[in-house]
Amino acid sequence: MKSKSELVAEIKKNSMPCHIAIIMDGNGRWAKSKNLPRVKGHYEGTRAVKRIVKVSGEIGLDYLTIYAFSTENWKRPNNEPKAVLTLIENTLMKEIRELYESNVVIKFIGSRDGISKSLAQKMDNAYELTKNNTGLHLFVAVNYGGRLEIVEGINALLKEKKNSITLEDFPNYLYTKGVPDPDLLIRTSGEMRISNYLIWQIAYSEMYFTKTLWPDFSQEEFLQAIIDFQTRARRFGGV
Ligand code: IPE
Ligand code: IPE
Ligand code: MG
Repeated sequence: MKSKSELVAEIKKNSMPCHIAIIMDGNGRWAKSKNLPRVKGHYEGTRAVKRIVKVSGEIGLDYLTIYAFSTENWKRPNNEPKAVLTLIENTLMKEIRELYESNVVIKFIGSRDGISKSLAQKMDNAYELTKNNTGLHLFVAVNYGGRLEIVEGINALLKEKKNSITLEDFPNYLYTKGVPDPDLLIRTSGEMRISNYLIWQIAYSEMYFTKTLWPDFSQEEFLQAIIDFQTRARRFGGV
């Protein structure tokens, strides 16, 4: 594989994706393959997040949206949901200063239903602290479900007593209001499905699936995915 600096040099600055979304999958299988508890896989997953956020800032990416916990993940046994949410809270506390100093805006998207007061408070504080930064916008999807996001949007419309909405206006009722749709969607771990992620927003995203498990996902592979994206002919239904 090429070195990081070679890959960075290969990226064409005039066709950079503006927004990359990632389904960070495979933490559990990574842990299993090493005979470790699943939470250790999630912990290693946070280290991968750190690398990818860092390189995203270095290459001047505008938006990165990462799937950390879905509305369906509550089904998991053995207190895994609680362990994952606690890990998210601890990681946020540990990393927020450095994120702020790296000019990152961090915002959490998803439902607050079932999220502890202490985590919700930290999510809000993190956004308040970083919202005037001008670098990478990092959106972390926690307790996120694409169908729920759409239904919540419709409920907001109903509250306003609107009886119709345009295609242009509806995205203003989603968590991603004001954010351009993802140009590139990456999913690790070999699964080729969407798992209720950004189902409205990815209508025309390019897809990059890799067998690499999330804790093993490197800056080099991320850069390679961008280079691959730059070879695609996006037609948006045209010719
Ligand atoms: C992704 O890894 C992280 C979360 C869904 C919280 P998984 O925990 O789904 O890992 P696998 O799919 O079991 O390997
Ligand atoms: C999607 O992964 C959710 C996150 C990465 C947070 P899952 O592991 O939950 O998806 P499925 O169950 O394999 O579809
Ligand atoms: Mg999984």
